[in-house]
Amino acid sequence: MDNKAILSYIEENKQRFLDELFELLRIPSVSADPKFKDDVRKTAEAVKARLLEAGCDNAELVETPGHPVVFGEKIIDPNLPTVVVYGHYDVQPADPYELWDSPPFEPVIKNEKIYARGSCDDKGQAYMHVKALQTMAETGNLPCNVKFMIEGEEEVGSDNLETFVRENKEKLAGDVILISDTAIISNDTPSITVGLRGLSYMEVEVTGPNRDLHSGVYGGAVANPINVLCTMIDSMIDKDGHITIPGFYDKVEELSAAEREEMNKAPFDLNEFKSELGIKEVKGEKGYTTLERVGIRPTLDVNGIWGGYQGEGAKTVLPSKAHAKISMRLVPNQNDEEITKLFTEHFQSIAPDYVTVKVRAHHGGLPSVTKTDSLAYNAASKAFEEAWGKTPIPSRDGGSIPIVALFREVLGMDVVLLGFGLDSDAIHSPNEHYGIFNYFKGIETITMFYKHFVEMKKA
Ligand code: BES
Ligand code: MN
Ligand code: MN
Repeated sequence: MDNKAILSYIEENKQRFLDELFELLRIPSVSADPKFKDDVRKTAEAVKARLLEAGCDNAELVETPGHPVVFGEKIIDPNLPTVVVYGHYDVQPADPYELWDSPPFEPVIKNEKIYARGSCDDKGQAYMHVKALQTMAETGNLPCNVKFMIEGEEEVGSDNLETFVRENKEKLAGDVILISDTAIISNDTPSITVGLRGLSYMEVEVTGPNRDLHSGVYGGAVANPINVLCTMIDSMIDKDGHITIPGFYDKVEELSAAEREEMNKAPFDLNEFKSELGIKEVKGEKGYTTLERVGIRPTLDVNGIWGGYQGEGAKTVLPSKAHAKISMRLVPNQNDEEITKLFTEHFQSIAPDYVTVKVRAHHGGLPSVTKTDSLAYNAASKAFEEAWGKTPIPSRDGGSIPIVALFREVLGMDVVLLGFGLDSDAIHSPNEHYGIFNYFKGIETITMFYKHFVEMKKA
């Protein structure tokens, strides 16, 4: 592989690589909101067109009951290894729009960063792979076969991708799954994600009286469901930050003292962490560091809570109903279906007689941990060494990509999480951004991964 040719191709095409990404970022592919359905499809069509331009022999939209999956491939020799790239072209809703400094779907560059919804998660990161393929193909340096599976429903739970994967094992056959949808520790400390948390996402409804009541006429004599819901939620985490759902921790993998020590060696500045978030103190499970609380411990968080009067001014009302959306992040070896069941039973059991409760599950997914001694991991490590001049640290991220566990189970391939975002990129938040440095360095690192992976496979 000719590194020089690769680097100069990237250098010469920087502006075009940015312009093309901007085109994708301008289409609001919000998978959660039916209002954007046509835009989601437009984005899929655009990804397909870009794959063909980049050198894929064929590319197609695979229909699902939801948003389409974009599949593309370039097979140069069936006897050579095959890298299967996964990414997602859908994005989170951009709300609240008024908190963005510039419109979320009108990408701009400020301070060497691309600002737009999806710039990092995951259009920017997925597109690096398209440009890496093009760079290798056009400089005559593509060392193996490539397949792309870019989906449009990651941000809503990947339910239809699961069916697609189960029904297309042959089509997706390959030697490694390569994903850029995670973060590195910092641009000075590159890392490879080896752990992702699982997820159980619940919604609850608490009902008191059969109608909204006058809070003076009835207040004090009838339970207020919002007050009750708050008490119930509060009881689910004790003063030490432990979740009180019986059986919740039964399957949680406890790391050895040595493993924990190793994990805490990763550079982490607590003061910087606090000041970046504008908080005076951190809060979490007693006995664990911040890195551990995010990387290896499960959580329970209210993501949204509503009920009663939310309009202008004051309305005296004792509401009939209260609602909350509650997520639990899971760690090995917790199972999201089991946790969903435990939560449901517990929430019903702690409901006092003066209310009734309904519990329903939204999406969920298993946690996953990657080995650091696989050929794929080693190839990724070598790629970082070559492109960044540093050996990457294995790190466990707190986020979730539920489909990763399924890939491993159904397709039986190693997964490499070769992400280049930063925790400070504000993914899912207003003013999401992605560093231009990370975008181009990512493309370079991906090409190095192909080189080392194929060399190591041959050896
Ligand atoms: N790319 C993220 C997950 C992520 C972010 C992993 C940063 C590691 C570091 C992904 O798009 C995402 O947001 N996943 C959701 C779960 C999904 C089921 C909605 C999440 O983690 O909330
Ligand atoms: Mn993502
Ligand atoms: Mn996301």
